[in-house]
Amino acid sequence: MDTPRIFISGLGHVGRAMLTLLKEASSPACRVAGLADSSGALISAEGFTHEELDRVAAAKATGRRLSALEGGLGGGFRADPLPAIAESRPDLLVELSPTDLSGGGAAGGYARAGLAAGADLIFASKGVLASDWHGITEAVRRAGRRMRFSATVGGGMPVLDAGLAFAQANPIDSIEALLNGTCVYIVSLMETGMEFDDALKAAQAAGMAEADPAADVDGWDAAAKLSILSRVAMGCPLDVNAIERGSLRKASGQAVRSALRAGKRLRAVGRIERVPAAAGPDGARASIRLVEVDARSALARSGSENAVVFSSRYAGDLALIGKGAGPRETAAAVLRDLAILSAGNTPYS
Ligand SMILES: NC(=O)c1ccc[n+]([C@@H]2O[C@H](COP(=O)([O-])OP(=O)(O)OC[C@H]3O[C@@H](n4cnc5c(N)ncnc54)[C@H](OP(=O)(O)O)[C@@H]3O)[C@@H](O)[C@H]2O)c1
Repeated sequence: MDTPRIFISGLGHVGRAMLTLLKEASSPACRVAGLADSSGALISAEGFTHEELDRVAAAKATGRRLSALEGGLGGGFRADPLPAIAESRPDLLVELSPTDLSGGGAAGGYARAGLAAGADLIFASKGVLASDWHGITEAVRRAGRRMRFSATVGGGMPVLDAGLAFAQANPIDSIEALLNGTCVYIVSLMETGMEFDDALKAAQAAGMAEADPAADVDGWDAAAKLSILSRVAMGCPLDVNAIERGSLRKASGQAVRSALRAGKRLRAVGRIERVPAAAGPDGARASIRLVEVDARSALARSGSENAVVFSSRYAGDLALIGKGAGPRETAAAVLRDLAILSAGNTPYS
């Protein structure tokens, strides 16, 4: 591939970090040929210069929309972003718009428009993969393209790559994981003496929780990640809606601190377990439950860390610990996917 042209849909925290990293990192080389936010798309025939991308990032950081930026930037603004994708001739479509678990939302339209324009796909948004796995993998196959989505599980950590590599000729029978940094952050604050409501407010004030925290504290975000992880590392389809979800709202400060005094940690642990196909519709069952973990366990994370423990049939356990989210870490995972696809290497499917 010559220097690939990329189209980025979504210019929020991750999108802006991506623009910064594209400038900072020496590789992979790429040209940004198109950008979209909720107001429409900006495209450039030659690719935007670093100065132009800096202007876009600065404007987006102050809440401005692409529709207000057109003057002097690239080839111009298109109110309808989908035709603008074909017009910008991308080799890669980088999908960073909001996660919508009820069918994928705008991300599905971007992905399909990218495939129709001959682009490979990179997702940080989880909605399309978690709610329409079959549809998107079939669309990618029919288009003869590739897709990667490292950032969707574990943020900056290569959880999917590690799981896939570990599972070669060594089936993974179960996975336990903390996949939502917001929950870890809130429960860590509760260990210092707060109740859930105050810890949630503190997390929101620190930018660690959304104004609407439901996706994080009620387990939807973790369930979407378990569903993707199950497909990639265990080869088991797992419907997000079939995953039992315990909410962190049910954790009392007293229970959190009594676990701490007993040398344990109360955590919202996601678990996927392989089951005989006859015993479960999908060959795997999964849950997110508030459980006490030993303080020395890989799952006893604090701050906003994530952890994943793969239990394999022949090679024991493999644990990964690291920063599971954050705009820069997530953008780094997107860049990794970009480097891997640019080098012609393996997608996940
Ligand atoms: N933040 C993380 O640490 C993290 C980690 C892993 C995965 N992710 C996933 O990465 C994605 C981006 O996260 P984020 O934190 O950057 O979200 P964000 O800050 O909420 O930004 C979302 C961006 O998407 C844009 N958008 C909304 N509707 C759109 C549409 N119809 N077409 C094009 N763009 C649209 C928004 O446009 P406006 O600017 O015009 O509002 C905004 O620029 C999400 O799916 C998230 O789940 C995030």
